Amino acid sequence: MSPSTPLDRRQWFKTAGAAVAALTLTARLRAVPTPAAPTFPVKLSLNENPFGPAPGAIGEMRARVTDVCRYAGTDTSKLVRTLAEKEGVAPAQIVLGAGSGEVLEACGALLGGPAGEVVCAVPTYGQFTAAMQRRGSALVEVPLNARMEHDPDAMAAAVGAKTQAVYVCNPNNPTGTVVAAEPLREMVRAVSARVPVLVDEAYLECSDDFEGRTLVDLVREGRRVVITRTFSKIHGLAGQRIGYGVTTPELAAQIRRHIIGGPNLLALVGAQANLADADYIARTRQKIKAGREALLAVLRELGCAWAEPQGNFVFFRTGRPIGEFRAAMQAEGVIVGRPFPPYLDWCRISIGTPAEMAVAHAALYKVLG
Ligand SMILES: Cc1ncc(COP(=O)(O)O)c(C=O)c1O
Repeated sequence: MSPSTPLDRRQWFKTAGAAVAALTLTARLRAVPTPAAPTFPVKLSLNENPFGPAPGAIGEMRARVTDVCRYAGTDTSKLVRTLAEKEGVAPAQIVLGAGSGEVLEACGALLGGPAGEVVCAVPTYGQFTAAMQRRGSALVEVPLNARMEHDPDAMAAAVGAKTQAVYVCNPNNPTGTVVAAEPLREMVRAVSARVPVLVDEAYLECSDDFEGRTLVDLVREGRRVVITRTFSKIHGLAGQRIGYGVTTPELAAQIRRHIIGGPNLLALVGAQANLADADYIARTRQKIKAGREALLAVLRELGCAWAEPQGNFVFFRTGRPIGEFRAAMQAEGVIVGRPFPPYLDWCRISIGTPAEMAVAHAALYKVLG
């Protein structure tokens, strides 16, 4: 869509130079489509993937629109079989949800309760732990290490007699960091002998080494581990609401009892078609990586520190209170992430299209330069 107001248009032309610079860098990493003019304000606050699903997935969803009068039984079982094959588990080990958020909520409903505790990093993604807290569980927060990564040893040490579950977010939201695979695998293997461990891999397919970092092998070993994944991030289907958990057959059956919605028909159809286009997903991963690298080049020039990013977002130090920084960026037409205590002079910014990022880069130069 084109800029709609004179201010938007001015902003667009003003940032054309930055767009060319950003694209030169991006193009070196991977050819990208010609940028369309962005829609203002540029929304880089919710870690959405603006590249969207594969064209084949959009075609399939369009073709099936007239089927929405039907319940989604066959499409559900078809996708469950596909996911089970992809993950190397039995179909009974897959729990579908309306977004991975619904699976996290269902896990919280199952595992939470008074007189117990949930161990997690701080800051991290709060949906599972909030669901536990609503059932009466207390939060045991373990600080990230100096690189803003989860600290597996400290998390293991925080597990006690009252612990009901442990939550690990890898890559972590909001910092974007991943944990070294082996220490994490060892911690989760040991702790899951005592309590269920949730490993939220919502962003792992955006990272450089999905195969080396996923802990789904622990589910295959029979450990009490729940891996959650989503179609909202690398698959670009956030608005369709579809995600899933992979776990033991026993836990899967228990979690499923707390799923109250589940994915809709077009979400199932879109997810199924997107999984069939591995090349498209790989290209999306390249575009996200190119966007991260281009943003880091800007931050380097501006002298800002950042946490090493492996998701579709970057967490960096602005040196200004986040409320003030957000307002300044918004005045330049860019919406960035909310405050993430205790890092109140840091900001999370999602990776948009090259055109959106050009606007964001220009705004950063203006606000921080
Ligand atoms: C780490 C993490 N897990 C899970 C979710 C939930 O996503 P969804 O419900 O769209 O799958 C999000 C959303 O941003 C997230 O950041």
